[in-house]
Amino acid sequence: MSQLYWPIPKYLSIPKLSGIAATLVVSFSSGPESVCWMEETRMQSLSQLLEQAKMGGVAIGHFNVSDIVLLKAVCSSAMDVQVPVLVGVSEGERRFLGTRQIAALVRSLREEYGFPIFLNADHAHSLESAVEAARCGFDAVTFDRSALTLEQNIYETQLAIQALKAINPGILVEGEIGDIGTGSEIHEAEQQEPRRLTTPDEARQFVEATGVDILAPAVGNSHGLVKSMVAGTTKKRLDVALIAEIKRAVRIPLTLHGGSGTDDGDLREAIGAGINIVHINTELRVAWRRGLEEGLCEDINQVVPYKILPRAVEAVSRVARSRMELFNSGPMGFIVKVVTETGV
Ligand code: G3H
Ligand code: ZN
Repeated sequence: MSQLYWPIPKYLSIPKLSGIAATLVVSFSSGPESVCWMEETRMQSLSQLLEQAKMGGVAIGHFNVSDIVLLKAVCSSAMDVQVPVLVGVSEGERRFLGTRQIAALVRSLREEYGFPIFLNADHAHSLESAVEAARCGFDAVTFDRSALTLEQNIYETQLAIQALKAINPGILVEGEIGDIGTGSEIHEAEQQEPRRLTTPDEARQFVEATGVDILAPAVGNSHGLVKSMVAGTTKKRLDVALIAEIKRAVRIPLTLHGGSGTDDGDLREAIGAGINIVHINTELRVAWRRGLEEGLCEDINQVVPYKILPRAVEAVSRVARSRMELFNSGPMGFIVKVVTETGV
């Protein structure tokens, strides 16, 4: 698929379709050529897709975007790989893009392509910020009061769930406990003291008390990359046994934050142990910068943005696609197809 322009909606490429309603099917495939079953004939909700991810031993990728280059790369990669995708925007990313504006962009892509692209308000640190996202039509909110004590975090998360579900009963609310650091950027060095991991008991207590839809625990993950990770010489490692214990304790979808720079084998095992969403940000930002530099260096007199920026879209897409393929390589990965009344 060309990264220069938005892809042509797939239904336009299916002959004899005019006048026939195209429907979207998300199903599982046990191999590249076989579709095991088709469950739905309309777009499924994010919670249904998370249920499918759980059954299929795969995870939905959550990719942060700060601009249209990243948005374009993430969405066209998802359509290429044929997997549902979560677009994430932190409070900083929202300030730059506009909360209402990114919601409108994601909605227009989902509608135009009939493709399961969802939007998450990533790390909303206040009720006000979470409510703003819900009012703008976000599909999910990561309500992050993990810096508080467990009791205060429970109390504030309860209030947030009440407020958010009153605005949109279908919105998914993720709660966060434990220390996974801050900043999707390149850090000088790894933190010296070991981070406090989430225990299965506190996970159970938090989920039972709040009723969150999704839990983000601290299981060895952390935000950002250190320089050796950018160079590819070191990797983040996960406590997969702890993930499995937390999953048994809470039995709801789990999110892994801080996915950049994590060992591929650990990511696969973590998904097998119960992770259903994986967040990637810094890896995309590194690719964005390198692609942009390439585009700028190619012709120092070039000033036309849409001739420079495709390099950045391509660089980000390579990373996004490889992560989507990894997250979807379980026994029964997603396959998203547009079908007509007469078949695929
Ligand atoms: O919420 C965003 C993520 O957790 C991204 O973390 O920058 O380490 O990929 P990352
Ligand atoms: Zn995060």
